[in-house]
Amino acid sequence: MNVLFVASECAPFVKTGGLADVIGAVPKALAPLGVGTRVMMPLYPALQKAARAGTSVWRAKDLHGGHAQLISLTLEGIDLLLLDAPHLFDRAGNIYLDADGKDWADNAQRFGALARAAADVATGGIDGWRPDVVHAHDWQAGLVPAYLHQMQKPVPASVLTIHNIAFQGLFSAELMKPLGLQATLYVPDGLEYYGNIGFLKGGIAYADKITTVSPTYAREIMQPAFGMGLEGVLRARQRDVCGILNGIDTEVWNPENDAYLAQAYSAKRLKAKEKNRQAVLQRFGLEPARNAPLFCVISRLTTQKGVDLLLEVLPDLVGRGARLAVLGTGDRDLEAEYIAAAHRFPGAVGVLIGYDEPLSHLMQGGSDAILIPSRFEPCGLTQLYGLRYGTLPVVARTGGLADTVIDANEAAIAVNCATGVQFAPVTAPALAQAIHRTCDLFMQPKIWAGMMRRAMRHPVDWETSSRAYHAIYSELANG
Ligand code: ADP
Ligand code: GLC
Repeated sequence: MNVLFVASECAPFVKTGGLADVIGAVPKALAPLGVGTRVMMPLYPALQKAARAGTSVWRAKDLHGGHAQLISLTLEGIDLLLLDAPHLFDRAGNIYLDADGKDWADNAQRFGALARAAADVATGGIDGWRPDVVHAHDWQAGLVPAYLHQMQKPVPASVLTIHNIAFQGLFSAELMKPLGLQATLYVPDGLEYYGNIGFLKGGIAYADKITTVSPTYAREIMQPAFGMGLEGVLRARQRDVCGILNGIDTEVWNPENDAYLAQAYSAKRLKAKEKNRQAVLQRFGLEPARNAPLFCVISRLTTQKGVDLLLEVLPDLVGRGARLAVLGTGDRDLEAEYIAAAHRFPGAVGVLIGYDEPLSHLMQGGSDAILIPSRFEPCGLTQLYGLRYGTLPVVARTGGLADTVIDANEAAIAVNCATGVQFAPVTAPALAQAIHRTCDLFMQPKIWAGMMRRAMRHPVDWETSSRAYHAIYSELANG
């Protein structure tokens, strides 16, 4: 079985968030099931050097304003098809945003081109390879099913995965023609969305199956509170929608041999976590906590992540003698507020603004708990890393957070299955209460250590979910 993944990022090559981790990990998990995956993504500057070793397997004279080719190469075990279109992707800076932090003005052409090339490869094949299923991820690949739909020849089945419905790819209707989209697709149950073209909406309308990254989020996005306007379209396709939980790459994220840790450890040698804690305290300029946990945050600093609520309850956290280490980038205002908080609580709150993969590993290794107060969270990966590293997740009860963390209520503690703390509603008082509850649990070392061990045993790999994707591909490929 052959599957063509289409996505805008893939770890470890180009990453702005969890999407990249997923795209980098799933193909490896599918391989033992007999699925051969090729990942099509843009050739960004970060990949240019490596791409020189690849082979050109497809060409277009004019793809949205310039020539383009696809370069095939295998990097770190992932079979890549890199869309080399210099007029669209050869530019410095963020892959989605210009220097002013605004979306690149030609994002419709850029990611429309990715989808168009993918649809072409999906139907024509390349170097003797042809996919049985095309799997498009998020709005950047949302047009793939639409391009397939308008083709006058047999096309493979398509799957759309929604990693975050907040990002929909809305563009002017005037772009229908320049993007090579037929006018017949510009209808309310097609691409049209309140007078715009909706890339994600197009994917929802024309994909054969729609998945999202947790069962709870699959239910949530059919409700107005979470659907961001697409709840009706999704409900209309309810029978084809399902939630498949993300996993993590347990080789990359393994406390027993993680090179970024100050000291490796395992569930049997939890004391060795201490060295990592010391390293985190030092990196963030924090004083050791007495009888209270070291919390961490590793996150985009945006309102989705609820990090504004955490700012409100810092006096509670600091008042308990706890410590907080924050690593993140995002909204300029939130960044500034976190820097100010570090000044207000010296030695208790430490903040580093930036993106630092190695440090994120060390923080997972050295913290006692990871805070994730998201207002919505399709799946979330940092709580999964937390579980694997025995860094107990304190999470909002929403989306994938609700599906992966077992709250330390009395019943769960009694049967020794708790792995973290959940809270609802997502408000500052509820978060404050969760922090107090976590501090109370921390003061009961036997219970806390039991939770750590339980968390580290919780299955977070791709075993179950890769089978679920495989089942969908098989069903579609068999008609
Ligand atoms: P989202 O994709 O919504 O940002 P996820 O939890 O699914 O949320 O994935 C976020 C990924 O990005 C995780 O791998 C996390 O460790 C990583 N990450 C987020 N912020 C940073 C940062 N400032 N430095 C390093 N890694 C980060
Ligand atoms: C999105 C979501 C996040 C999810 C990730 C990977 O970025 O915000 O919750 O884990 O995609 O699916």
